Amino acid sequence: FNVPVPKNEPVKAYAPGSPERAELQKTLKEFRSQEIDVPMYIGSEEVRTGNKKSMSPPHDHQHILGYFHEGDASHVEQAINAALGAKAAWETMEWEQRAAIFLKAADLLAGPYRAKINAATMLGQSKNAFQAEIDAACEFIDFLKFNVQYMTEIYAQQPPVSGDGVWNRVEQRPLEGFVFALTPFNFTAIAGNLPTSAAMMGNTIVWKPAYTQIYSAKVLMDVFKEAGVPDGVINLIYVDGPTAGDIIFNHPDFAGIHFTGSTGVFQHIWKTIGENIFKYKSYPRIVGETGGKDFVIAHKSANPKAVAVGLSRGAFEFQGQKCSAASRAYIPNNIWADVKKYLLEDLSSMKMGPTEDFSNFINAVIDEKSFDKISKYITEAKGAEGVEIISGGNFDKSKGYFIEPTVIVTQDPMYKTMQEEIFGPVLTIYVYNAEHFEEALELVDQTSPYALTGAIFSTDRYAIEFATKKLRNAAGNFYINDKPTGAVVGQQPFGGARASGTNDKAGSMINLLRWVSPRTIKETF
Ligand code: SER
Repeated sequence: FNVPVPKNEPVKAYAPGSPERAELQKTLKEFRSQEIDVPMYIGSEEVRTGNKKSMSPPHDHQHILGYFHEGDASHVEQAINAALGAKAAWETMEWEQRAAIFLKAADLLAGPYRAKINAATMLGQSKNAFQAEIDAACEFIDFLKFNVQYMTEIYAQQPPVSGDGVWNRVEQRPLEGFVFALTPFNFTAIAGNLPTSAAMMGNTIVWKPAYTQIYSAKVLMDVFKEAGVPDGVINLIYVDGPTAGDIIFNHPDFAGIHFTGSTGVFQHIWKTIGENIFKYKSYPRIVGETGGKDFVIAHKSANPKAVAVGLSRGAFEFQGQKCSAASRAYIPNNIWADVKKYLLEDLSSMKMGPTEDFSNFINAVIDEKSFDKISKYITEAKGAEGVEIISGGNFDKSKGYFIEPTVIVTQDPMYKTMQEEIFGPVLTIYVYNAEHFEEALELVDQTSPYALTGAIFSTDRYAIEFATKKLRNAAGNFYINDKPTGAVVGQQPFGGARASGTNDKAGSMINLLRWVSPRTIKETF
């Protein structure tokens, strides 16, 4: 099939004096100076319930960016009905037409909506300009374009053998029913990808974003509308989790969930689906990316500076709120002094403050609940035996939810911050005896139930090979001499197993295949 060959969207630098910086600053100013009113989008309707909830920048929580209209159970029903109503026309539309809509959405994001989606992400989720650019603009554009490519490959696949009076073929049908997209705050690209990847394959969607991502979700919805996504294909609702879940997971036409969020919520959903299994017309597809406790291990041969940069970037970009963020590290004692020196140097150059000032590398964590959870870990570490905070450790929520990038060094490799997911700017380091590399690898593998991302730093090829084999099941995305964040669509398909998810790699054909139900047809002449 002839679709435009996808290329990764080039990342803009937003250098001082550049036109893209001027435009982004103008958009930020405009967004800050207005109060938007965000309806739910159900079928052809913009639904305003009057039950308004405010939206604020996490780094400036007294400032109001606007209000969204919260819905109730009746809106969940409406959204399901709208999705089911739109289905027949959408699923019989030629795939090229669906592809064209999503390619147009990618072009709108790359051009006229780039500053808007970045500004919404910077203000609504407290991402700095660069982090917004690689997420909301580049990663989502890449998801759309590469998924269209994978889609064509899926539709082109046919059984290799026919002949002798027989013609075998496979038809890729969408799932029967509606798909529920339950999306997180931490990546605008993921929030966009979960509904669109399933929609692309002919499904219709009920989309419930995190309440802390609604500002950028609204901009995405504007893009989808302008690109020509028909009414009812993607229905955007803001309803609390238990209310939405109660209706969706009891519905006979529930056909699948595309989820990114916490392990606990995902496990609860899976259990609920299991309990309701007799109610559904088909076994629902359950696709989820969940928690992580991502690691960095250095070998005694590692370059200390490379390790330090991997740690500071891997752990603290976007305040450690990436599912891929490094949060536990194992450093051999022979290079520890140098790693520590470079790490502290790098951290001291990181400024903290609001996203509107482009010189700030560290911004706020997403909300008060996260702030309280993360700061509790830090407070406990301050008093704990065998534990030392070597950088950061301060936090303040008077104006925004600010937590300094915090590095804990522990003598106990099983200390709680080595094991539990914190989802914030806290890195815990265990310094191991350089001669006991294999034991350190054992610790990496056994300390946490998660297996999302991880990295090995070494200049010794035997050590790299040994670690790669030994940690085979410890991460779905494994990095050699690089930080464990920043997977690029089309280059490193993303996802993990164990308690980190179903590993149906985001941005890959594997993921898109979950949203079709093939029918095999044998015809005899
Ligand atoms: N793709 C992101 C990363 O690798 C996580 O979703 O950091």
